[in-house]
Amino acid sequence: MIQPFDFHLPTRISWRTPVHDAVPEAVAALGVQRVLVVTDPGIVATGLIPRIESALTTSGTSVSTFTDVGSNPTTRHVAMAREMAVDTGAEALIAVGGGSAIDTAKAAAMLLANGGSYSDYQWDGAPITRPSHPLITIPTTAGTGSEVTKVAVISDENEPFKKGVLSPRMYAKVAILDPEVTLGLPAGLTAATGIDAFIHALEAFIGKRTNPMSDMLAIKSLHLCRENLPKATDDGSDIEARSQMMLAALFGGMAMDQSGLGLVHALSGGVCSRLHLHHGLANASLLPTVFGFNVGHIAPDRRRRLATIFDLPTDTEDAAMVDSITEFVRRIGLPTDLSAHHDSLDSAALDSIAEQSMRMVMVHNNPRSADIDDCRSLIEAML
Ligand SMILES: [Fe+2]
Repeated sequence: MIQPFDFHLPTRISWRTPVHDAVPEAVAALGVQRVLVVTDPGIVATGLIPRIESALTTSGTSVSTFTDVGSNPTTRHVAMAREMAVDTGAEALIAVGGGSAIDTAKAAAMLLANGGSYSDYQWDGAPITRPSHPLITIPTTAGTGSEVTKVAVISDENEPFKKGVLSPRMYAKVAILDPEVTLGLPAGLTAATGIDAFIHALEAFIGKRTNPMSDMLAIKSLHLCRENLPKATDDGSDIEARSQMMLAALFGGMAMDQSGLGLVHALSGGVCSRLHLHHGLANASLLPTVFGFNVGHIAPDRRRRLATIFDLPTDTEDAAMVDSITEFVRRIGLPTDLSAHHDSLDSAALDSIAEQSMRMVMVHNNPRSADIDDCRSLIEAML
């Protein structure tokens, strides 16, 4: 029997190439004249930002650009972006980049409407009562899905641990997707961001809060990743593979936004903070061991569906399912454990990661219950 569920995603999704030509129309639809672009130095170097600025200026929009988003953005980056938006009188924000730029802009947009500093809202702090400042998201990676989610994950300046703040009032007004902007991504980043999309779909599909609509999106995302992530990693100029991966990230993002994540993401916050790893790279390293922990607890019909996605017989043994996932991670050149970091995680670090993981809401959506000892043992087994 289908359990009660909601599916709420108010973001307009626009698929446009080239993206810079689509931005003025999206801004005009918001009815604003002054905008702030929020991005990072890497995106500026690609030449995309001047094209967006030029298109906006030509259409009569006043545009300023904040370029100082860090690779693991902190509350300081959010405060700086917010301050620039206030100083320039920006009526809307345009996030251009991967999850870091989009989450920074999403957090700044929330603060512009609700006041205070971002840390006031972390760990179920102050309530978010007002809809965010209008936000347009333009993803430049096929991975995070942040363009369509209600969460912004930002590290605290004083405590290097990523903390998500989420609210249905934080959705972007519009997400504009153009796979051509991902053509220049190097293979390593293509793989790391793409496996993140895969894990969003996987954790949404096997978690406790599934619903028929997120299932549909997650299954499609898993198929698309399985088919296209190796192609996009092997040949970055393969626009068809890039396009399908952008869809996969979108669908994975929508699925996780509605149905939540699981133990890979619960563990990866502490691992990323300790080892300064890219989010997708850490997730790849955690996936085989965590999937092995979960596989015997996945509902039978979902397990059969996963086997089919991996071209396996539906009665495939647990160990072979884990091998198949592990081989998929290895095939795209990513690590399948944390053995490279064996000397960097001592006993105290393991305790700390396990403790942090248990504070993440995702741990409660995992198909198999996990306690603090399980979290510690899993990380230890990966070393
Ligand atoms: Fe993720």
